[in-house]
Amino acid sequence: MANVRIEGVTKSFGEVEALRRVDLEIPDGEFLVLLGPSGCGKSTLMRIIVGLETATSGDVFIGNQLVNDLPPRERDIAMVFQDYALYPHLKVYDNLAFPLKTKKIASDEISKTIERVARMFELTSLLDRKPRQLSGGQQQRVALARAVVRDPVVFLMDEPLSNLDAKLRSAARDELKRLQRNVGVTTIFVTHDQVEALGMGDRIAVMDVGSVCQIGTPEQVYSYPANTFVATFLGTPPMNLIYCPEHILGFRPEHFQPKVLYGPEEDLAEFQYRVHRVEYLGNQRIVYGTLEGTMANMSGSDLVMSSLPDSVTYGRTLSDGKSYEFGVRREDLRFFDNDTEQGIESPSSGV
Ligand SMILES: Nc1ncnc2c1ncn2[C@@H]1O[C@H](COP(=O)(O)OP(=O)(O)OP(=O)(O)O)[C@@H](O)[C@H]1O
Ligand SMILES: [Mg+2]
Repeated sequence: MANVRIEGVTKSFGEVEALRRVDLEIPDGEFLVLLGPSGCGKSTLMRIIVGLETATSGDVFIGNQLVNDLPPRERDIAMVFQDYALYPHLKVYDNLAFPLKTKKIASDEISKTIERVARMFELTSLLDRKPRQLSGGQQQRVALARAVVRDPVVFLMDEPLSNLDAKLRSAARDELKRLQRNVGVTTIFVTHDQVEALGMGDRIAVMDVGSVCQIGTPEQVYSYPANTFVATFLGTPPMNLIYCPEHILGFRPEHFQPKVLYGPEEDLAEFQYRVHRVEYLGNQRIVYGTLEGTMANMSGSDLVMSSLPDSVTYGRTLSDGKSYEFGVRREDLRFFDNDTEQGIESPSSGV
């Protein structure tokens, strides 16, 4: 097992700057989620770590060893690719055996390992099939199993759950987390799904156009986003952002407090809010409305609020078109610089 360190990694494809000075340190045994929108450079970074792509500049260390010049097979990393990359002409069994054969492991040991891992991924009855005779989800399980049989020092997983349906996906998340805890292998898991990232990561590295903009625990990146991109990429609905003259004010939809529920001693930023529409989603209610009063004309004055479905004051009794008093606790307010959109401690003017 090993830690992974990435220092100042840059990658250009001609005009396209896919990675811009990326620094990341992943301690031994950590489950790090790399989260970001399509095209931000996640797969490129994975391919550089595994050795399939060469960085334009910068260094990759695995277990404190500089691996820039090591070919992929000498890096002892197992990668699950976005498109699985199974061998189409080989049966599932031989797909799983392939990495072990190249390590010159005895065939009876190979079959024991495959039997154990196939059971783990419920592939026992599929070992004689070829990849094209499998569903997308089954192929994905073969790709994961092939990574596990190798017993690597690092796992790289590039959107390994994207082809599973919602139910299987949630079961696979659980399975994968348990598996990683049991084997304790350093894992980098790529996704563009923020729910998956929040649920699975020991830490999350959030990427945007070739750069890592924040690294932290799920709680840190959700509660204290480093910039407005992170603030709105995480959370459904995303953080509300109000563009005030001197700063951007942010707060999460779940942090609306109805005035009728808080006491006079509480320190809240108060505002008047007109409700346009209440959406019932089963496990929550989403309210769409706008700010009224002095902040009504600022950009971002359309605010979204969320609440539990059975909360009387927060949804059930709110009527379309009516206006209500709400507040947000000062500790739940976040501030961002108007020009750089980076988080700031507190603005120069009051709220
Ligand atoms: N071989 C290549 N040649 C030219 N441009 C490339 C190449 N590979 C990637 N790119 C570009 O680099 C950028 C990053 O691509 P990458 O595949 O790393 O994104 P990603 O974050 O994995 O996206 P997705 O979530 O869609 O898989 C994109 O703009 C992409 O078009
Ligand atoms: Mg990708």
